[in-house]
Amino acid sequence: MDPRPVGVFDSGVGGLTVLHECLVTMPHEDFVYLGDHARLPYGPRPLEEVRRFAREIGLFLEAQDVKLIVVACNTATSAALPQLQGELAVPVIGVIAPEARAAVQATRNRRIGLLATQGTVDSGRYAQLVRALDAGVSFHPVACPRLVPLIESDDPYAEETEEAVREYAAPLRAAEVDTVILGCTHYPLIRPIFQRVLGRGVTLVFSAEETAREVAETLARKGIENDRAREGRYRFLTTGDPVAFREMGRRFLQLPIGEVERVTVARLEEALA
Ligand code: DGL
Repeated sequence: MDPRPVGVFDSGVGGLTVLHECLVTMPHEDFVYLGDHARLPYGPRPLEEVRRFAREIGLFLEAQDVKLIVVACNTATSAALPQLQGELAVPVIGVIAPEARAAVQATRNRRIGLLATQGTVDSGRYAQLVRALDAGVSFHPVACPRLVPLIESDDPYAEETEEAVREYAAPLRAAEVDTVILGCTHYPLIRPIFQRVLGRGVTLVFSAEETAREVAETLARKGIENDRAREGRYRFLTTGDPVAFREMGRRFLQLPIGEVERVTVARLEEALA
Protein backbone atom coordinates (compact mmCIF):
# COMPACT_ATOMS: atom_id res chain seq x y z
CA MET A 1 0.00 0.00 0.00
CA ASP A 2 1.21 3.51 -0.81
CA PRO A 3 -0.59 6.63 0.53
CA ARG A 4 1.21 9.15 -1.69
CA PRO A 5 -0.89 11.11 -4.22
CA VAL A 6 -0.83 10.75 -8.02
CA GLY A 7 0.35 13.90 -9.85
CA VAL A 8 -1.50 15.05 -12.99
CA PHE A 9 -0.68 18.03 -15.22
CA ASP A 10 -1.82 19.89 -18.32
CA SER A 11 -1.32 23.31 -19.88
CA GLY A 12 -4.74 24.33 -18.52
CA VAL A 13 -8.05 22.75 -17.61
CA GLY A 14 -8.21 20.17 -20.44
CA GLY A 15 -6.42 17.57 -18.31
CA LEU A 16 -9.34 17.73 -15.89
CA THR A 17 -11.20 15.43 -18.30
CA VAL A 18 -8.50 12.84 -17.55
CA LEU A 19 -8.59 13.62 -13.82
CA HIS A 20 -12.39 13.17 -13.90
CA GLU A 21 -12.01 9.59 -15.15
CA CYS A 22 -9.21 8.91 -12.65
CA LEU A 23 -11.38 10.15 -9.75
CA VAL A 24 -14.27 7.96 -10.87
CA THR A 25 -12.10 4.89 -11.53
CA MET A 26 -9.92 5.25 -8.38
CA PRO A 27 -12.06 7.01 -5.74
CA HIS A 28 -9.70 5.78 -3.01
CA GLU A 29 -6.59 7.55 -4.41
CA ASP A 30 -5.38 11.11 -3.69
CA PHE A 31 -4.53 13.40 -6.63
CA VAL A 32 -2.72 16.70 -7.09
CA TYR A 33 -3.43 18.50 -10.39
CA LEU A 34 -1.32 21.28 -11.87
CA GLY A 35 -2.61 23.51 -14.73
CA ASP A 36 0.05 25.69 -16.35
CA HIS A 37 -2.38 28.46 -17.33
CA ALA A 38 0.24 31.21 -17.38
CA ARG A 39 1.86 29.47 -20.38
CA LEU A 40 -1.26 28.09 -22.13
CA PRO A 41 -1.60 27.24 -25.00
CA TYR A 42 1.16 24.67 -25.50
CA GLY A 43 -0.17 23.60 -28.91
CA PRO A 44 1.39 26.33 -31.12
CA ARG A 45 4.75 26.43 -29.25
CA PRO A 46 7.95 24.75 -30.50
CA LEU A 47 8.20 21.19 -29.13
CA GLU A 48 11.55 22.06 -27.49
CA GLU A 49 9.89 24.74 -25.38
CA VAL A 50 7.00 22.47 -24.36
CA ARG A 51 9.59 19.82 -23.41
CA ARG A 52 11.25 22.28 -21.01
CA PHE A 53 7.90 23.20 -19.41
CA ALA A 54 7.00 19.52 -18.99
CA ARG A 55 10.37 18.71 -17.40
CA GLU A 56 9.99 21.62 -14.94
CA ILE A 57 6.52 20.44 -13.93
CA GLY A 58 7.56 16.78 -13.73
CA LEU A 59 10.45 17.62 -11.38
CA PHE A 60 8.23 19.97 -9.35
CA LEU A 61 5.55 17.28 -8.90
CA GLU A 62 8.14 14.67 -8.00
CA ALA A 63 9.39 17.03 -5.27
CA GLN A 64 5.76 17.11 -3.98
CA ASP A 65 6.21 13.38 -3.25
CA VAL A 66 3.80 11.95 -5.83
CA LYS A 67 3.98 8.20 -6.59
CA LEU A 68 3.13 8.41 -10.31
CA ILE A 69 2.75 11.24 -12.84
CA VAL A 70 0.06 11.47 -15.53
CA VAL A 71 0.90 13.81 -18.41
CA ALA A 72 -2.73 14.76 -19.12
CA CYS A 73 -1.83 16.83 -22.17
CA ASN A 74 -1.29 15.35 -25.62
CA THR A 75 1.07 18.15 -26.64
CA ALA A 76 3.30 17.67 -23.58
CA THR A 77 3.17 13.88 -24.02
CA SER A 78 4.19 14.26 -27.67
CA ALA A 79 7.03 16.63 -26.79
CA ALA A 80 8.44 15.13 -23.61
CA LEU A 81 7.28 11.66 -22.53
CA PRO A 82 10.58 9.81 -23.15
CA GLN A 83 12.59 12.59 -21.45
CA LEU A 84 10.29 12.59 -18.42
CA GLN A 85 10.47 8.82 -18.13
CA GLY A 86 14.26 8.95 -18.37
CA GLU A 87 14.68 11.75 -15.87
CA LEU A 88 12.13 10.97 -13.14
CA ALA A 89 12.27 8.15 -10.60
CA VAL A 90 8.47 7.69 -10.48
CA PRO A 91 6.47 6.03 -13.32
CA VAL A 92 5.17 8.51 -15.94
CA ILE A 93 2.07 7.79 -18.04
CA GLY A 94 1.12 9.82 -21.12
CA VAL A 95 -2.14 10.08 -23.02
CA ILE A 96 -1.00 9.04 -26.49
CA ALA A 97 -0.18 5.33 -26.26
CA PRO A 98 -3.54 4.38 -24.66
CA GLU A 99 -5.44 6.22 -27.43
CA ALA A 100 -3.34 4.81 -30.27
CA ARG A 101 -3.99 1.28 -28.96
CA ALA A 102 -7.74 1.91 -28.57
CA ALA A 103 -7.98 3.33 -32.11
CA VAL A 104 -6.16 0.39 -33.71
CA GLN A 105 -8.42 -2.01 -31.81
CA ALA A 106 -11.59 -0.13 -32.79
CA THR A 107 -11.13 0.49 -36.53
CA ARG A 108 -12.80 -1.92 -38.93
CA ASN A 109 -11.72 -0.37 -42.26
CA ARG A 110 -8.20 0.44 -40.93
CA ARG A 111 -8.53 4.16 -41.69
CA ILE A 112 -7.85 6.30 -38.63
CA GLY A 113 -8.05 10.10 -38.31
CA LEU A 114 -6.41 12.33 -35.71
CA LEU A 115 -7.59 15.77 -34.58
CA ALA A 116 -5.03 17.45 -32.30
CA THR A 117 -2.92 20.55 -31.70
CA GLN A 118 -0.21 21.65 -34.13
CA GLY A 119 2.54 20.45 -31.76
CA THR A 120 1.00 17.00 -31.38
CA VAL A 121 0.58 16.57 -35.14
CA ASP A 122 4.11 17.89 -35.85
CA SER A 123 5.69 15.45 -33.38
CA GLY A 124 4.46 12.46 -35.44
CA ARG A 125 4.10 10.37 -32.25
CA TYR A 126 0.59 9.09 -33.01
CA ALA A 127 1.59 7.99 -36.50
CA GLN A 128 4.60 6.09 -35.07
CA LEU A 129 2.55 4.36 -32.37
CA VAL A 130 -0.36 3.48 -34.65
CA ARG A 131 1.99 2.03 -37.28
CA ALA A 132 3.92 0.08 -34.63
CA LEU A 133 0.64 -1.65 -33.73
CA ASP A 134 -0.66 -2.07 -37.31
CA ALA A 135 1.62 -1.08 -40.18
CA GLY A 136 -1.30 -1.43 -42.61
CA VAL A 137 -3.38 1.40 -41.16
CA SER A 138 -3.97 4.48 -43.30
CA PHE A 139 -3.47 7.41 -40.90
CA HIS A 140 -4.82 10.96 -41.41
CA PRO A 141 -3.64 13.67 -38.96
CA VAL A 142 -5.22 17.16 -38.93
CA ALA A 143 -3.96 20.08 -36.80
CA CYS A 144 -6.78 22.15 -35.24
CA PRO A 145 -5.20 25.40 -33.98
CA ARG A 146 -8.55 27.20 -33.44
CA LEU A 147 -10.16 24.66 -31.15
CA VAL A 148 -8.39 25.12 -27.78
CA PRO A 149 -9.00 28.92 -27.64
CA LEU A 150 -12.65 28.36 -28.63
CA ILE A 151 -13.12 25.65 -25.98
CA GLU A 152 -11.49 27.83 -23.30
CA SER A 153 -13.71 30.80 -24.30
CA ASP A 154 -16.91 31.81 -22.47
CA ASP A 155 -19.07 29.99 -25.03
CA PRO A 156 -17.51 26.73 -26.21
CA TYR A 157 -20.77 25.70 -27.90
CA ALA A 158 -20.92 28.72 -30.23
CA GLU A 159 -21.56 28.32 -33.97
CA GLU A 160 -17.95 29.29 -34.58
CA THR A 161 -16.83 26.12 -32.80
CA GLU A 162 -19.08 23.94 -34.94
CA GLU A 163 -17.80 25.66 -38.09
CA ALA A 164 -14.19 25.05 -37.04
CA VAL A 165 -14.92 21.37 -36.32
CA ARG A 166 -16.62 21.06 -39.73
CA GLU A 167 -13.55 22.51 -41.44
CA TYR A 168 -11.10 20.24 -39.58
CA ALA A 169 -13.28 17.15 -40.04
CA ALA A 170 -13.66 17.64 -43.83
CA PRO A 171 -10.43 15.84 -44.83
CA LEU A 172 -11.28 12.97 -42.48
CA ARG A 173 -14.73 12.56 -44.01
CA ALA A 174 -13.13 12.63 -47.48
CA ALA A 175 -10.66 9.93 -46.37
CA GLU A 176 -13.61 7.82 -45.09
CA VAL A 177 -12.03 7.12 -41.72
CA ASP A 178 -14.21 5.04 -39.37
CA THR A 179 -12.26 5.96 -36.21
CA VAL A 180 -11.06 9.39 -35.05
CA ILE A 181 -8.63 10.01 -32.20
CA LEU A 182 -9.52 13.22 -30.39
CA GLY A 183 -5.90 13.83 -29.47
CA CYS A 184 -6.26 16.80 -27.13
CA THR A 185 -7.55 16.68 -23.58
CA HIS A 186 -9.70 19.77 -24.21
CA TYR A 187 -11.84 18.10 -26.87
CA PRO A 188 -14.17 15.90 -24.77
CA LEU A 189 -15.95 19.07 -23.67
CA ILE A 190 -17.41 19.45 -27.19
CA ARG A 191 -17.93 15.74 -27.83
CA PRO A 192 -21.49 16.18 -29.18
CA ILE A 193 -20.23 18.59 -31.87
CA PHE A 194 -17.61 16.08 -33.06
CA GLN A 195 -20.12 13.21 -33.07
CA ARG A 196 -22.73 15.21 -35.02
CA VAL A 197 -20.22 16.46 -37.59
CA LEU A 198 -18.46 13.11 -38.07
CA GLY A 199 -21.61 10.98 -37.83
CA ARG A 200 -22.72 8.16 -35.55
CA GLY A 201 -20.85 5.57 -37.61
CA VAL A 202 -17.45 7.01 -36.63
CA THR A 203 -15.88 5.79 -33.40
CA LEU A 204 -14.42 8.64 -31.34
CA VAL A 205 -11.41 7.75 -29.18
CA PHE A 206 -10.69 9.93 -26.13
CA SER A 207 -7.71 9.70 -23.85
CA ALA A 208 -9.51 10.04 -20.53
CA GLU A 209 -11.02 6.57 -20.05
CA GLU A 210 -8.08 4.74 -21.63
CA THR A 211 -5.54 6.64 -19.55
CA ALA A 212 -7.43 6.18 -16.26
CA ARG A 213 -7.52 2.44 -16.93
CA GLU A 214 -3.76 2.42 -17.54
CA VAL A 215 -3.11 4.38 -14.31
CA ALA A 216 -5.27 1.97 -12.27
CA GLU A 217 -3.55 -1.08 -13.77
CA THR A 218 -0.08 0.38 -13.21
CA LEU A 219 -0.78 1.17 -9.53
CA ALA A 220 -2.21 -2.34 -9.02
CA ARG A 221 0.60 -4.20 -10.81
CA LYS A 222 3.32 -2.25 -9.03
CA GLY A 223 1.58 -2.77 -5.69
CA ILE A 224 1.42 0.98 -4.97
CA GLU A 225 -2.35 1.44 -4.58
CA ASN A 226 -3.84 3.28 -1.62
CA ASP A 227 -6.23 1.60 0.85
CA ARG A 228 -9.39 0.74 -1.16
CA ALA A 229 -11.63 1.31 1.86
CA ARG A 230 -10.82 5.03 2.10
CA GLU A 231 -12.13 8.04 0.17
CA GLY A 232 -9.43 9.95 -1.68
CA ARG A 233 -8.85 13.71 -1.74
CA TYR A 234 -7.79 15.93 -4.61
CA ARG A 235 -6.31 19.41 -4.83
CA PHE A 236 -5.33 21.91 -7.51
CA LEU A 237 -2.42 24.13 -8.40
CA THR A 238 -2.31 26.69 -11.23
CA THR A 239 0.28 29.11 -12.55
CA GLY A 240 -2.64 31.36 -13.60
CA ASP A 241 -5.63 32.87 -11.78
CA PRO A 242 -7.08 30.48 -9.16
CA VAL A 243 -10.57 32.03 -9.40
CA ALA A 244 -10.71 31.62 -13.19
CA PHE A 245 -9.38 28.07 -12.83
CA ARG A 246 -12.19 27.16 -10.41
CA GLU A 247 -14.86 28.67 -12.67
CA MET A 248 -13.73 27.03 -15.89
CA GLY A 249 -12.48 23.87 -14.24
CA ARG A 250 -15.97 22.88 -13.08
CA ARG A 251 -17.13 22.43 -16.68
CA PHE A 252 -14.29 20.02 -17.37
CA LEU A 253 -14.15 18.15 -14.05
CA GLN A 254 -17.92 17.91 -13.43
CA LEU A 255 -17.07 17.48 -9.76
CA PRO A 256 -16.59 20.07 -6.99
CA ILE A 257 -13.38 22.09 -7.11
CA GLY A 258 -12.36 23.28 -3.65
CA GLU A 259 -9.04 24.97 -2.88
CA VAL A 260 -6.95 26.13 -5.83
CA GLU A 261 -3.45 27.29 -4.95
CA ARG A 262 -1.29 29.53 -7.13
CA VAL A 263 2.23 28.39 -7.93
CA THR A 264 4.48 30.80 -9.80
CA VAL A 265 6.22 29.97 -13.07
CA ALA A 266 9.47 30.99 -11.30
CA ARG A 267 8.95 28.15 -8.80
CA LEU A 268 8.53 25.66 -11.62
CA GLU A 269 11.62 27.01 -13.33
CA GLU A 270 13.60 26.51 -10.11
CA ALA A 271 12.83 22.77 -10.26
CA LEU A 272 14.94 22.49 -13.42
CA ALA A 273 17.60 25.04 -12.48
N1 DGL B 1 -4.69 20.14 -23.53
C1 DGL B 1 -3.59 20.24 -24.44
C2 DGL B 1 -3.43 18.94 -25.20
O1 DGL B 1 -3.94 17.95 -24.77
C3 DGL B 1 -3.73 21.32 -25.47
C4 DGL B 1 -3.94 22.69 -24.96
C5 DGL B 1 -2.86 23.61 -25.37
O2 DGL B 1 -2.67 23.88 -26.57
O3 DGL B 1 -2.20 24.07 -24.44
O4 DGL B 1 -2.81 18.88 -26.22
